[in-house]
Amino acid sequence: MYHMAGVQLTKVKGLPMKKLFIFLLGAVLLNAREFIGKVPLVEHAKEVHFTGSRLISPELLHNILHYQTWGELFVYLQVHWFRALFFGITVGVLVVFLLHYLIIGPKKFSHSGKGVFVYSVFKRVVHWTAALAFVLVIPTGFMMIFGKELGGGDLVLTARYIHSIGTVLFIVSFIPMFLMWFIPMLPTLDDIKWFLMLGGYLTKKKVVVPAGQFNAGQKMWFWVAMLGGIVMIGTGAMMYFQDFHLAILDRFGLDQIDLIRIAAITHNFLGMAVAALFITHLYMSLFAIKGSLDSMISGNKSEDEVKYMHSSFYKKLKKEGKI
Ligand code: HEM
Repeated sequence: MYHMAGVQLTKVKGLPMKKLFIFLLGAVLLNAREFIGKVPLVEHAKEVHFTGSRLISPELLHNILHYQTWGELFVYLQVHWFRALFFGITVGVLVVFLLHYLIIGPKKFSHSGKGVFVYSVFKRVVHWTAALAFVLVIPTGFMMIFGKELGGGDLVLTARYIHSIGTVLFIVSFIPMFLMWFIPMLPTLDDIKWFLMLGGYLTKKKVVVPAGQFNAGQKMWFWVAMLGGIVMIGTGAMMYFQDFHLAILDRFGLDQIDLIRIAAITHNFLGMAVAALFITHLYMSLFAIKGSLDSMISGNKSEDEVKYMHSSFYKKLKKEGKI
């Protein structure tokens, strides 16, 4: 028996879970070492060394405008942390879900009856447009982060173009998705209760989970994808177009290049959160509940699933005589 957050988890027959877990953790840590600390932090420059051309100098980095502020931070993060963090977070999330699948497994609900109609054709089309956008954007984003390991060149350049095409698709789906879901995605008291029991996902048993049409986990994904999405679009555009001629920059003592550095740092950190939640969304909708994908294909959700996993929504529909 294993114990996790007070819940008893049954050992998976025939699988040495502890060893598997230690092996996976070891593999993650060993590989993360690969990305950290290979290049020393650039020495701090106290003054501009080369007074001629700023761009052609023996100490190129130090002579780029304001390198010592945002530039140094960006190079430091880029050299030491971004790849390691992307790698660690992605593998970490995958390991957690693999363990969840092996130890607890998917929830099963009866699919008899006609179900509860939740997603109209319009909602499904908007959703699948956003899904296609992310399927293009996320893997190509990873390809750019690990461009060095992939050998750079045309492959990574192509990834960059596909990344931009995916972004345009996401922009197209963004406004309808925001408008169609932002009201049911607003926080309610159920969300606190949902978080306290982690949505009932730590037990194999069917438990009644407090949630409206969307639970707290789904809401978190929605807001990260939407609000985070706007910031990702904005920071991505700053890196793509590069020159904005913004007078406001002067007021903050910044230059165009500072803006790109800040955009890149924000894009990378937020990208980690978006990628981690995207993987979570895939796990939840493809594996954590058996047959969950049906709802985004036919529009209907199993009544049994709604009764347990969205109990407040179920009560509301019953009261209104809709089921
Ligand atoms: C291949 C990628 C994707 C797959 C397979 C997928 C699958 C699904 C499924 C099956 C549902 C219904 C879940 C349920 O009601 O129980 C769902 C809902 C939803 N999806 Fe996706 N989705 C994908 C990508 C995306 C993307 C990129 C976004 C946002 C930009 C997104 C946002 C949502 C939201 C907000 C919901 C409603 C709440 C929720 O269930 O999380 N999905 N998705």
